[in-house]
Parts: sequence; structure tokens; C-alpha cells
Amino acid sequence: VKKVPGVDARRQAMLLMAGSSVDLGLTGPDRAFAHRIYRETVIWRARLDYTLSALSQRPLDSLERELLTCLRIGAVQLLILRVPAHAAVSSTVSVLRGQKKKAYANAVLRRLSVTGEREGAPLCIRYSHPQDLVEKWIGYFGMERACRLLEWNNSVPGLGVWLRDGASGCKCPVHEPVKGEIGQWLPSYRKIEREALQDVVESEGCFVQDQAAAVTGVGMSSLPGLNVLEIGCAPGGKTVHLDEPSDFVTALDSSELRMKTWIENSIRYRWTSSFPVVAAGELLPFRRSSFDKVLVDAPCTNTGVYRRRFDARWNWSPGLLSACTGTQSRLLNSAAAALRPGGVLVYSTCSLEPEENSDQVIRFERDHPEFCRITFPAQSQLVTDGMLSIFPPEHDMDGMFAASWKKSE
Ligand SMILES: C[S@@+](CC[C@H](N)C(=O)[O-])C[C@H]1O[C@@H](n2cnc3c(N)ncnc32)[C@H](O)[C@@H]1O
Repeated sequence: VKKVPGVDARRQAMLLMAGSSVDLGLTGPDRAFAHRIYRETVIWRARLDYTLSALSQRPLDSLERELLTCLRIGAVQLLILRVPAHAAVSSTVSVLRGQKKKAYANAVLRRLSVTGEREGAPLCIRYSHPQDLVEKWIGYFGMERACRLLEWNNSVPGLGVWLRDGASGCKCPVHEPVKGEIGQWLPSYRKIEREALQDVVESEGCFVQDQAAAVTGVGMSSLPGLNVLEIGCAPGGKTVHLDEPSDFVTALDSSELRMKTWIENSIRYRWTSSFPVVAAGELLPFRRSSFDKVLVDAPCTNTGVYRRRFDARWNWSPGLLSACTGTQSRLLNSAAAALRPGGVLVYSTCSLEPEENSDQVIRFERDHPEFCRITFPAQSQLVTDGMLSIFPPEHDMDGMFAASWKKSE
């Protein structure tokens, strides 16, 4: 049987879409193509379904999952990745099992290659985001900024690293110095090309993360306090900044699974001042007023990092928002009690929602008059009313929020 070129890449994309961990062992462009199909199919699901639903004789939600996934990965190649029809359709359809399914997918995708995209889609479909979230953003940010955010979320994120040894670059003998554009907001940050990733991953002096996470971590670390509690620490994107020889960091998270990754990172990056604790942040197993500095990197809706966490938009719901705000309030209250008088508290999220950010700050300050807001240490363009407020399309990095306070003596 003659192998149709690229079939394995489509097969791998189908596996990724099914949440399977089976790795077909593809390398180079085939592997990259499989992951690109996966990413774009997840992102554009609503837009693809809008067109597919007009071409499929059966309603999409009545189709077998495998068939629907195949239609989506075929459609993404035709509409978004602009793969020529002769390559996209046959090699995609051939990953299906069963003649009936193949014939159905073939007919729908061939029709699509002739008709093209369905017109008249509303904004939320064009940008492929949940409708209520798009409406919420338009109300809060205004149409122009909301559209820029929607566009940003659908774009491909760049890569970058924070360098432990600062602006001088990574001190490891093999890879010094890391080549790449210096971060606009942080001299110890480098934007790197995907090809350089393997080198930096092997180096303990470089930590791969978005510049916004690095800005937040560096700011947190620069605030005073030697005996530190970090609530919501896993997998360690902030611990990497906090782990200083002079400090003692109690790194706490409620998820055992995520803590395993934190521990792997602690070994790889040789964190020697940080100690892991698995516990609920609402019921801290420590005496009151025991820490000089307490950080809450709170669980949130993740709306600031949709570009990177491209599946997260489909988890959005008002219920998720209220669950997150409830947990955030409880964690903040518990963090406030764990802090000694005169100590520093930091609260951060990777959300853009006022309910999780400025509204939490207002509520916390109302309920805890013993806390006085201090300006979060970051470049002034990133700070509003003393709070770090990063808006992705304006600052060219993930959306982050952070507020900090001093507890009265
Ligand atoms: C934003 S993530 C932390 C990211 C981490 N700080 C980093 O930079 O890599 C929030 C974390 O809070 C943890 N978490 C959620 N609910 C919690 C709770 N009630 N108590 C403690 N940790 C919690 C989650 O398991 C998750 O790891």
C-alpha cells in the first residue's frame, strides 16, 4: 500500500485531540505540523464548527467523536493553515477506520474545499471564544481593546527564558551566553528561537517562562522578607525567583500531582532554600504570624494566558469565575493571618478579570484595614494604582496581575 505523505502527522494530531499520550515518534517538520494542527484545531473549534455544521448532513453533536475530530482537523488545514485541498483531505480522511466514516468525512471536506468558509459569523465565532466572555470583555475593555485581546489569544506565542545570573546571561559553561533579544521589561530575560530550546532546557541557569511570569517573580523576590511562605507554588515558576541562599521558602500547594513537577524542578534547578508542603492554603499547618513575606499565586480562570494555554478558553464559565474568586478570597484571608506584623503580602493571578484582581483587592482592603498597599516593584508602565496590571496586546506578554501590601506593626 502506498503511504500518503503526512498521514502520520494527521494521525498524531488525532491522538493529541483525543487526549492520548501515544507518541508516534515523529520528528522535525512532521512533529511540528502535528502539534500545529492540534493547537489550531483546539483554538478555532467554534469557527470550524460554524462552517462544518452547514456542510454536514448530520448535526455535528450526533457524529462519532473520531469522525468529528477528523472533520475539524481537515477543516483547520483548509481554512486556517491553508493546506492545498489535495493534500489536506485525502491524508486526513485516511486516518479514519471504516469505509462509511471515510466516505462521510471525504464528502464534507471536499464540499468545504469548494465552498470555503461560511459567511456571516458573529464576532465570538470569528475569534472562536465563548460568547459570554467576549461580551464581558467588550463591556469591560471596550470593542477595540477586546478585539486586540481576542486576536492576541489566537496568535502563536514566542519562547523566552529568565536567566538566574541576570543580564550577564547563563553562566553554564556549555551555553554561555544565551543568544536572544533582551526582554523589553526585564534585562535578565531573553526571547529565544524554538531551535535554541533544547540547549536552554539542559541548563540549570535558565528557566523557560513567559516574560510576564518573570516580571512577577522578580518583583515578588525583590520585596523584603527572609522567611517566606508561597501559597500555590506548583510547578515552581515563582519559586525559581524566590529561592535565594539567604532565604527560607516554604512552598505550599494543595495538588500532589503538580507538586511532583515542583519537586522535579527543585532538583533540576537546585533549589536549596525551598521546602515543599502539600496542604490546603485555607487550612495552613503553621502558627499565625510566622512569616516575613507571604505570596498567594492564586488559582484563577487563566484568562490572561489563553494564548499559551490554548484549551483554557473552553473551560471558561461564570461558575468557574465564582469558584475561583471564592478560593482566592479564602487564600488571601489565610495568608493575611500567617504573616507577621510588619511583613509583606503579595497576591497574584494570571487573569484579566476585575472580579479576580481589583475587586479582590478592594474586598481585602475593606476587610483588613491593618494592610496598607505598597507599589508592586515593576516598570511603571506596567503598574496602575500600585498594582501590576499587564494587558497582553499592549505589553506584548501574558496577562498578569499582582498587588502587594505591608501589614501594620
Ligand atoms: C497559578 S497556579 C500556581 C503557579 C505557580 N506559582 C507557578 O508560577 O508555577 C495556582 C496553584 O494553586 C494551587 N491551589 C489551588 N487551590 C489551592 C488551595 N486551596 N490551596 C493551596 N493551593 C491551591 C493549584 O494546585 C496551582 O498549583
